[in-house]
Amino acid sequence: MKLLILNGPNLNMLGIREPDIYGRRTYDDLDAFLRRTCAERGIECEVFQSNHEGVLVDMIQSAYGVVDGIVINPAAYTHTSVAILDALKAVALPAVEVHLSDVNAREEFRRVSYPGIACEKTFAGQGFDSYKLAIEYLAEKYG
Ligand code: DQA
Repeated sequence: MKLLILNGPNLNMLGIREPDIYGRRTYDDLDAFLRRTCAERGIECEVFQSNHEGVLVDMIQSAYGVVDGIVINPAAYTHTSVAILDALKAVALPAVEVHLSDVNAREEFRRVSYPGIACEKTFAGQGFDSYKLAIEYLAEKYG
């Protein structure tokens, strides 16, 4: 099975940005964790990060017919992006939303997720393990 794992804006600043919320591990640590988690389960993966909404939309569109599922942390675009929601609906691939932090226990505006409407599940508040749970969910259901 092949997965596309997408990370949105400011996640490249992991380790530096708000360590009390997001931890001290870096984006490179996350990238390595995701590749290892997939490799251990015989899953092929493409891991990608962008600070730009349109680039994330392009990546979702280019996954059509190429991957079996999408794991996405849309970061701040979670709370604003109808474009990412529409892209996920357009390709209609199994998708799972993830967040490092517990978005429901933070500011009110973080409780809204547009991309989440097109996702089968959301895993949040478990740091890197949120991604692991998403990968395992997709592997179990579609692998
Ligand atoms: C985040 C939560 C979002 O609210 C925030 O804008 C992020 C990261 C998370 O992984 O906890 O950038 O998606």
